[in-house]
Amino acid sequence: MDEDIEEILVSQDKLERRIKELGIQISEDYIRRLPLLVCILRGAFMFLADLTREIKIPLAIDFMAISTYEGKTESSGIVKILKDLDTPIEDRDVLIIEDIVDTGLTMDSVTKLLSTRNPKSIKLCTLLDKAERRIVKVNVDYYGFTVPNKFVVGYGLDFEERYRNLPFIGVLKEEIYKGGNNNINAK
Ligand code: IMP
Ligand code: MG
Repeated sequence: MDEDIEEILVSQDKLERRIKELGIQISEDYIRRLPLLVCILRGAFMFLADLTREIKIPLAIDFMAISTYEGKTESSGIVKILKDLDTPIEDRDVLIIEDIVDTGLTMDSVTKLLSTRNPKSIKLCTLLDKAERRIVKVNVDYYGFTVPNKFVVGYGLDFEERYRNLPFIGVLKEEIYKGGNNNINAK
């Protein structure tokens, strides 16, 4: 698996340190508000798991699954809700937990949709921000790292459902996603 990675962009160590800082910040900002953390599946599962352990105030968690990419590396701009929240969010302080904001189309749709349910507040915390690819403006309230315009995997992020279990963020070799399925190395 590691031989499919061109370069490590964010090491395990750096992830850990930055997520601790985010946890402290969020704990201060949301004190006595019982925030509802909305994890966008599947990419943000690992970030949520580590981030919540660094947040030292009471909170609640729910999950939402969305599809945009359908196996490719470019955003289709079409957002489909595969699994909606189980929790009503009216009057709640909602904090969306996302893996990466790329074109911004996904987070634009999700925040618009959730806003119609009258939450008290709605903010976005993304691990990665690929800011130079933005097509629509999205308010990123918290982010871990900005990343260049390269396809990244690991720490929850996938290419065709693989590489999510890498403990770091790495750049995927171009030959893996440009060459079609027969080039995918199954190791
Ligand atoms: P957006 O709608 O273009 O902002 O795309 C956001 C979604 O695309 C993210 O939630 C990811 O699932 C996926 N995505 C965007 N860039 C990457 C990447 O470099 N690696 C893996 N997934 C990505
Ligand atoms: Mg995602």
